[in-house]
Amino acid sequence: MKIFVDSANLADIEESLKRGFASGITTNPSILSKEQRRDFKDHIRDIISLLRQYESPLPLSVEVFTTEPDEMLQQVKQFLDDFGDYEQLYIKVPIGWDELRVIREIRRMGGRVNCTCCMSYNQAIMAALAGADFVSIFWGRIRDTGYDAASVVRSVHETFRERNCASEIIVGSIRQMIDISEAIQAGADIVTVPPKFLPALCSHPKTDEAVQQFMADFRAWSDEAPANHALTAVAFAR
Ligand code: E4P
Repeated sequence: MKIFVDSANLADIEESLKRGFASGITTNPSILSKEQRRDFKDHIRDIISLLRQYESPLPLSVEVFTTEPDEMLQQVKQFLDDFGDYEQLYIKVPIGWDELRVIREIRRMGGRVNCTCCMSYNQAIMAALAGADFVSIFWGRIRDTGYDAASVVRSVHETFRERNCASEIIVGSIRQMIDISEAIQAGADIVTVPPKFLPALCSHPKTDEAVQQFMADFRAWSDEAPANHALTAVAFAR
């Protein structure tokens, strides 16, 4: 079970890396478009530099930005030239009939693949069969269509496990906090989470209440009973 950060924002990525919980970064063309306009290659290289600063290199997914398979293949070659020195680069390719050819070609060139935009069991299975290392299932977008995202993830997870499939399931398209825990319980190996949800994942009003109480009790004790300090000091000295 791993958490990836679904962002191309350098500050947000760094805040996550500082805290040690992040096991990878996912981007896509829309996520990149939220950043200040600049050269695509420079931006991805900056993310790679940031990742290199923190411990072991983590998986970074970068998506092709065309729907035309031959152009995809050209972009794949360019990605491998520009970013292939990063040992944990995953090229994201949407699932589709012609796209399977692109996935196979990336694998043939020694690259790694995150097959993205999977909305159904069948798509996830085809992605895995074509050799995708990661199969990204879009939780929120499946629910938009009225289907149960949990049952898609659960059935893909069961099949991968029964057949010893090496592909890992990433659940993306997280829209609310509860999606994260439900996706993990449904069998996601990885949930990729937008940065806005991350602080809330480790907070709880009862935690705040407990910490406030500990502070207040200690303050009252240390302010009001100086004699206790002396007693404690003597006890420790013995
Ligand atoms: C993850 O890899 C995806 O790019 C992302 O979660 C897509 O989610 P969306 O439905 O918010 O576009």
